[in-house]
Amino acid sequence: MKLTGALEKAFNDQVTLELEASIVYRQLSIEMEVQDLPGIAGWFRAQSQEEIVHAEKFIAHMTDRDSSPSIGAIKAPGVKAGSVRDAFEASLAHEVKVSEAIRHLYRLAQEEGDIDALPLLNWFVSEQLEEEATVGEIIGRVRLIGNDGPGLLRLDAELGSRPGADAEA
Ligand code: FEO
Repeated sequence: MKLTGALEKAFNDQVTLELEASIVYRQLSIEMEVQDLPGIAGWFRAQSQEEIVHAEKFIAHMTDRDSSPSIGAIKAPGVKAGSVRDAFEASLAHEVKVSEAIRHLYRLAQEEGDIDALPLLNWFVSEQLEEEATVGEIIGRVRLIGNDGPGLLRLDAELGSRPGADAEA
């Protein structure tokens, strides 16, 4: 079944939003690299790549259904992270925005009776829950670490062990 016009536009916007998320994470990665935290920088870089995969999932769904996705304007990330906590707070704020966009898509698909979109959207609902929980947990730990340098270095080493985190920038 072809996507209706309203859903097609919303899917298109989601492709753009996922690519925007990728750029936000890439900027956060740079900020952490500058603060000599290569593990955390790598974690954000891996997340940036994951957001591209998310965009690709929406693109594939659209092209499978005879739509032609067209990437919209993406503004400069505009994130400045003076601290690790700032970086993860910015990440959580962006994930909350993406989660709401996914819920909007889900409601729209239900209104349009678009059953074909639901498996993909269900996957994204779960993914967003997981992403918000992961970032929330990291923020909790960053709070506990406070100004403890060795604690921060341990977190850096741990987050740097994420698959893909050690890839060259
Ligand atoms: Fe694709 Fe982290 O939202």
